[in-house]
Amino acid sequence: MTVTVRSSAKINLGLRIGAARSDGFHELLTVYQTIALHDVIRISVERGDGIEIRCSDPRVPRDEANTCWRVAERVLSALKIKKRVVLEIEKSLPVQGGLGGASANAVATLVGLERAVGKKVAPAERFRIAAEVGSDLPLFLVGGTVLGSGRGEQVFPLPDLPPIACVVVTPKVGVSTPGAFAAWDRLQAAQAGSKLTVDAGSDRMIELGRALSAWLSELYSGAPIRGRAENPLLALVRAGIENDFEQVVFPEYPELGEGKRALLRAGAKYASLSGSGSTLYGLFASKTGAMRAAAALAKQGWAVEATTTLPRRAYWKRLQK
Ligand code: C5P
Repeated sequence: MTVTVRSSAKINLGLRIGAARSDGFHELLTVYQTIALHDVIRISVERGDGIEIRCSDPRVPRDEANTCWRVAERVLSALKIKKRVVLEIEKSLPVQGGLGGASANAVATLVGLERAVGKKVAPAERFRIAAEVGSDLPLFLVGGTVLGSGRGEQVFPLPDLPPIACVVVTPKVGVSTPGAFAAWDRLQAAQAGSKLTVDAGSDRMIELGRALSAWLSELYSGAPIRGRAENPLLALVRAGIENDFEQVVFPEYPELGEGKRALLRAGAKYASLSGSGSTLYGLFASKTGAMRAAAALAKQGWAVEATTTLPRRAYWKRLQK
C-alpha cells in the first residue's frame, strides 16, 4: 500500500525569543502561517520491519537523524504495528531554510502512515509524538494560521483567514537554528553587560502578546472575517511584529538583509525572515503585484517563487492530496 501526501511549508509572522530555559530551549512567541510551497512524500508499508528513506537530495539524512524516520518509528510503536516502511521524499523546499520543511515532512509522514496502515494515533498522542521530535512539528498538525508558544511546540489554531499573495526568496545559504539561538544568547549577554537590569527577553514577548491581543479582539469584533476591505493578515503585520532572528542572522549574512530590502522595494506590504532563515518572504496586496515582484526579483538574480498562504482547510486538502 502506497500513500502520497503533500507537505506544505510555513512562514513566521513575527517571532519573539524569550528566556533561555534549563532544558536548553528558549521560550518563544510566534504566529505560524502555512503556505502553498511543498514537498511530496510517498509512504509504502510492506511486510517485514525497518524504516528506509529514499531521497535524491544528499543533504537529507537517511537514518534516525531524519525527522520522518523518528516520527515513523514512534507511530509504529504507538499503534503496536510491525511493518517495513519505505519513505520517498521528493524535495522542493529549501533545507535549513526556516520554512519548516523537515518538520512538515515528518507530520506528513505521520498522517500518511496512519492512512497506509488504516489506523489512527489518538489526538493527544499525535501532538506528543510531534513535540518530542521537534518544536516546529505540532504546528503542522493544525495548519492555517497558528499561535505558537512555549518552545514553539504549544500550538493554538487562530481564525482561518482568507489567503494572501506571498513571494518567497530562498538564498543559497542554510542557517543552523541552534547556531542562531546561540548567537541570540551572545547578543543578549553583550547587551546586558551595558545595562543595569536584564529582562531575559520578556518585555519583547509581552509587546508581541499585546499586539496579538489587539489584533485578535479586532478580528472577533463581530464583523465577518471574509470580505473585509483589507486582508486581516496585513492588519497583523501592520501592528509592528518583528522576527528577533533578523538581529543576529542579518549581520552574519548581509545578503539576507539585502533580500528583505529587495522584497520591500518590489512592493511587499511586509517582508521578513522566516524562522531562523535563510528564507525571506514578502506579503502582497494582490496576486498580480506578487507575480510582478517575483519577476523583477528573478531578474535581479534572486531565487524566488510567488505563492500564497494556505488557510486551514486548503492545508488539509493538500496534505491528503
Ligand atoms: O526542537 P528542535 O529540534 O527543532 O530544536 C533544535 C534546537 O534548536 C534545540 O536543540 C535548541 O538548541 C534550539 N531551540 C531553542 N529554542 C527553541 C527551539 C529550538 O533553543 N524554542
